Amino acid sequence: MKKLVIANFKMNPATAGETSDLVRSYGEKAKALEKVEFVAAPPFIFLLEILNKGLEVAAQDCFYEDSGAYTGEISPLALQKLGVQYVIIGHSERRRMGETDEIIGKKLQAAIRNGLIPVLCVGETQAEKEAGQREAVLKQQLSQALGNWASAIRDFQLVVAYEPIWAIGTGLACEPDEANRAMEFILNETKKIIKDVKMIIIYGGSVDANNLKGFLVKPNISGALVGGASLKKEEFAKILEIANSV
Ligand code: PGA
Repeated sequence: MKKLVIANFKMNPATAGETSDLVRSYGEKAKALEKVEFVAAPPFIFLLEILNKGLEVAAQDCFYEDSGAYTGEISPLALQKLGVQYVIIGHSERRRMGETDEIIGKKLQAAIRNGLIPVLCVGETQAEKEAGQREAVLKQQLSQALGNWASAIRDFQLVVAYEPIWAIGTGLACEPDEANRAMEFILNETKKIIKDVKMIIIYGGSVDANNLKGFLVKPNISGALVGGASLKKEEFAKILEIANSV
């Protein structure tokens, strides 16, 4: 199976030209890689820049209704009609701005209803890790987001991104063995909620060209969600090559 590598540009760059330039530098190469599925997650307003290059994209969020009076929100139906394949849901940077597990659950349902593959982000804070609460936090995030609706859905395709919050943007990535254990827990917990889920788990949090391979050789880790390093052309080109070599 191909490794899924998602480039999360977050709120960068500032122009369509720069977005295009960034992706042009490694996009064509990425298409030719046999063992990597490359997906770019730019700001909404630059999704077309990337889709027009024949590459796959993820939106960084979506709303839970398809249409209506919701000023400023982005419809999952509109994303699907634009040609978007994936949508990141519940990123810790959005949770920090007030997004709850309940809202995340509604957004997951909206994504699936519209044929988008959700990338559900879960992970614990530094304080939760130190208090030995990692598994309790993951269990709560999964059960509250998937809880009472997911078991009724057939043909459920899900990507979970394990992103320990203390590892995001800090340069302090999780140890691959530790991440692999957390992912085994995520897999088992999710299977308790959804019986026949087609699911993969990817790692996110200070992934770079030096540490990527250590993650991808682990049995439960099927790819990476890369933030900061995805804005560095040369480094990200290396990341794609390394993912293709594992
Ligand atoms: P980072 O971000 O690679 O800069 O740590 C990852 C993410 O937030 O998805």
